[in-house]
Amino acid sequence: MAKYEIVGGTPLKGSVVISGAKNAAVAILPAALLVSGPCRIENVPDISDVRILINILRDMGATIEYEDANTLTVDCTAINSIHPDPALVRKMRASYYLMGALLGRFGHAAVALPGGCNFASRPIDQHIKGFMALGADVDESEDYVNMVPGVDGLHGARISLDMASVGATVNIMLASVLIPGRTVIENAAKEPHVVDLANFLNTMGAHVSGAGTDTIKIRGVDALRGGSYAIIPDQIEAGTYMAAAAATGGNVLVQNVIPKHMERISTKLQEMGARITEYDDAIRVQANKRLHNTTVKTRPYPGFPTDMQAQLCVCMALAAGVSRLTESVYETRFFGYCTELANMGADILISGKTAIVTGQDKLHGATVCAHDLRAGAALVIAGLAAEGTTVVEDIHYIERGYENIIQKLTGLGATIRRIEE
Ligand code: EPU
Repeated sequence: MAKYEIVGGTPLKGSVVISGAKNAAVAILPAALLVSGPCRIENVPDISDVRILINILRDMGATIEYEDANTLTVDCTAINSIHPDPALVRKMRASYYLMGALLGRFGHAAVALPGGCNFASRPIDQHIKGFMALGADVDESEDYVNMVPGVDGLHGARISLDMASVGATVNIMLASVLIPGRTVIENAAKEPHVVDLANFLNTMGAHVSGAGTDTIKIRGVDALRGGSYAIIPDQIEAGTYMAAAAATGGNVLVQNVIPKHMERISTKLQEMGARITEYDDAIRVQANKRLHNTTVKTRPYPGFPTDMQAQLCVCMALAAGVSRLTESVYETRFFGYCTELANMGADILISGKTAIVTGQDKLHGATVCAHDLRAGAALVIAGLAAEGTTVVEDIHYIERGYENIIQKLTGLGATIRRIEE
């Protein structure tokens, strides 16, 4: 098992270039299943979740060619299977987008239930509700979802989600772009990657409007054609480097970002005393004095993202005063890292949905374990800020979502190495 060894205590300095958004890429690659012809996709992050999806698509018969590490041409025209390899599907969460994409393309799908980061119970009832509203007969067993067209065939529908689920919104968009008629998703998720998927689909000839608002409307078309598309920068990767700059008392220019997507993260770090300077496509984070406490509640976009909860918690753990961090999307997310941070000297009390974080002057190095992607990112930040040496185990979670993290952090002056055992 590989691990990271970090010698902490050095403020991060310099600039870092943010990669393409993981959660957009893992929706856009399955979306290529809906396209007749080659899709050239730029800014694809080279991370393990993307590599797994590429293996799934190739195994199903797609032709995928790399122009460089981040630019691919995906041609799914030859695929005629509705059975992605269950062993690969179970390796990641977003493989559930194959359900919507296969249903949309073939009217049938047989997809294993996904694996991935299990920091909470992650039901997919809203996805299934959407597929059924679109006319699919869905048979969900303990580890598989099978779908066939119902007696009336597949058709557009009005679907009101019980919560603004990213996954359900994406899956319903994927399923409906080629289905005849008009589909309306109410209480849709508004995350930047939902908008990016809509833009990709529209570039390929779909009719999707309203992405980024509560209501997304889709008018089914006969076919999507090939084209070229560039994925947006990763909001959470950018936020992670911003938090790392703040926690280490650094001065980092985070490049290739969309500052609008970063607003809540920038505001919180600013409230904690970091100096934030926004440019057209970059943000500088300077923290030359100790951070101070704040209060945060995670919410769906445009709120403060749950995927930044753990990284911000590290900033709170080092800030002067008592901070309160409330999770409203995944209640059990604290358990992935708070005990590990406590091993490094953090003082965190969990009370229901809220972590009460009493800031310490210092954290100290320890051997800690990444239990999921963002928890792992937080432990890396803690290690960078702590005195002494930190070893982060189970880093395969981190490598699901952070491209070239060692090179990027080393470029900012960090002492971090990957140890293969
Ligand atoms: N929910 C249901 N039923 C459903 C779907 C969701 O009850 O059918 C609940 C969830 O349990 C959760 C809430 O609704 O409490 C929101 O879940 P959502 O569906 O929005 O999350 P997701 O699609 O499973 C995506 C990201 C996550 C991110 C969440 C929230 C992808 C591939 N994953 O997950 O990203 O935390 O949205 O923003 O886009 C990560 O990148 O580390 C990550 C976990």
